[in-house]
Amino acid sequence: MKSHRITRRDFLKGTSLAAAGLGLAPAFSRTVFAAEGRGRVIGPNEEIRFAVVGFHGRGADHIGGITKLRQAGEKVRVVALCDVDKEVLDKGVKQFRDKGEEVKGYTDVRQVIDDPNIDAVTIATPNHWHALATIWAVQAGKDVYVEKPVSHNVSEGRRMVEAARKYARIVQTGTQSRSSRQGIASAVEWVGAGNLGKIKVARGLCYKRRASIGKVDGPQPIPPNIDYDLWCGPAPKGPLMRKHLHYDWHWVWPTGNGDLGNQGIHEMDVARWFLGVNELSPRVFSVGGRFGYVDDGETPNTLVIYHDYPGAPLIFEVRGLPEAKGSNKMDRYRGAQIGIVIDYEGGYVVVPDYNTAIAFDKDGKEIKKFSGSESHYANFVKAVRSRKVSDLHADILEGHLSSALCHTGNTSYRIGHQLEPDEIRERIQDDPMAEEACQRAYEHLQINEVDLLQTKATLGMVLKMDPKTERFEGNDQANALLTRDYRKPFVVPEKV
Ligand SMILES: NC(=O)c1ccc[n+]([C@@H]2O[C@H](COP(=O)([O-])OP(=O)(O)OC[C@H]3O[C@@H](n4cnc5c(N)ncnc54)[C@H](O)[C@@H]3O)[C@@H](O)[C@H]2O)c1
Repeated sequence: MKSHRITRRDFLKGTSLAAAGLGLAPAFSRTVFAAEGRGRVIGPNEEIRFAVVGFHGRGADHIGGITKLRQAGEKVRVVALCDVDKEVLDKGVKQFRDKGEEVKGYTDVRQVIDDPNIDAVTIATPNHWHALATIWAVQAGKDVYVEKPVSHNVSEGRRMVEAARKYARIVQTGTQSRSSRQGIASAVEWVGAGNLGKIKVARGLCYKRRASIGKVDGPQPIPPNIDYDLWCGPAPKGPLMRKHLHYDWHWVWPTGNGDLGNQGIHEMDVARWFLGVNELSPRVFSVGGRFGYVDDGETPNTLVIYHDYPGAPLIFEVRGLPEAKGSNKMDRYRGAQIGIVIDYEGGYVVVPDYNTAIAFDKDGKEIKKFSGSESHYANFVKAVRSRKVSDLHADILEGHLSSALCHTGNTSYRIGHQLEPDEIRERIQDDPMAEEACQRAYEHLQINEVDLLQTKATLGMVLKMDPKTERFEGNDQANALLTRDYRKPFVVPEKV
């Protein structure tokens, strides 16, 4: 496999050879084609050719979304599918061919990157692949729609922003709530105009049932249809220590970011949007644990994250256990379950889903409802045509900042210490809103019959961050988690 990356030298060498009218070696000509792709201006009547990378779950929605736009008359087409799982790939390719549509099938994303007949790439692989696939694609001149969280660690996200800007590419984050223009965006604007006064606190909530993933007693066989080397990519290629390779990677640190970086990133993003902050929080800590079962997952299923912004804090709550042991219902907080609640001096706003925001006065009387959404894929296509980052509803910078708020919350947790509830209470008493959220989480755990004296919660490290450098202050352990040891050759470049 040739190098995926088009260096500036390759590019110049390629163009000068071409200019001199010299023949090009096959491997080299692919590089030149890809480089020519960079900056290709797509005319209003020209088709945008998509590749969808990873489509066992969310990627199927990408295919559906693009297909729907095509059916509505938009000049877009899925021309390639890529998945390291041959079963997923063959099934996807067959679905197109059965409809009489030609589509290429690739196993290795580098083949997508090298294909000059692809203009835009959508990425719905596991999180640990997002940054590398995006950076490779933009370096090769392709626009990218990348799922949330955009990154697996903080520094990857920043490098994705740098790459998008350097190569002048359009990179959309898959946080589709950002395309709720009549709904959430209008509410953000309305409160921004001062209709409810000053903001006091923004709360993101992810009360989503997450059951045990089971516990295996040794390495599991890798399904023969999966190219495991490619699946692992930048992550260590260790034995599979859980029942299911797909999806449950969310619950182990080498590949996932827990539910905070899974469902939670959507609500984190909207909470940050209402708060109106465009940098990382200067101080963060988390409290939580993985309670209620012992399984192969490592990430917390219960977590309170406190982002101490100077204007007003952003508090996030993850709950994976039900409202009571044995129940299949989840808790609610002021009408929201997987949502956002923002308090203002003159009332509050509840965002109960991806498309709605409801404003209440101080007495809890509904005063205004905002709802409606547009296709997030259509928004991406619009920006691909206009070449204006400002046309995007969820530019990669937004994706980076919100994803990074999940990562810093997780970082605090990962280097924390287990303590008894009273000790935790004492140590966080200077942040009463965090203490109150923890108290509610304890009560929720108690109802789930979790004994916090037996299974202690972790009080994460209180971390200070310099939002300008996006590095923690005076904490090497935390700074080490801003990036990772990449497994060669799947290395996210330090300089893009
Ligand atoms: N925006 C949303 O509402 C939303 C919803 C669900 C999932 N997601 C995001 O989508 C991503 C995928 O989640 P999922 O639930 O579909 O996971 P999944 O594990 O079910 O599917 C991932 C697919 O990617 C494939 N894959 C892995 N590495 C690959 C590589 N290098 N190249 C090509 N294919 C590769 C796997 O074989 C699998 O088919 C996650 O980042 C998740 O957070 C977003």
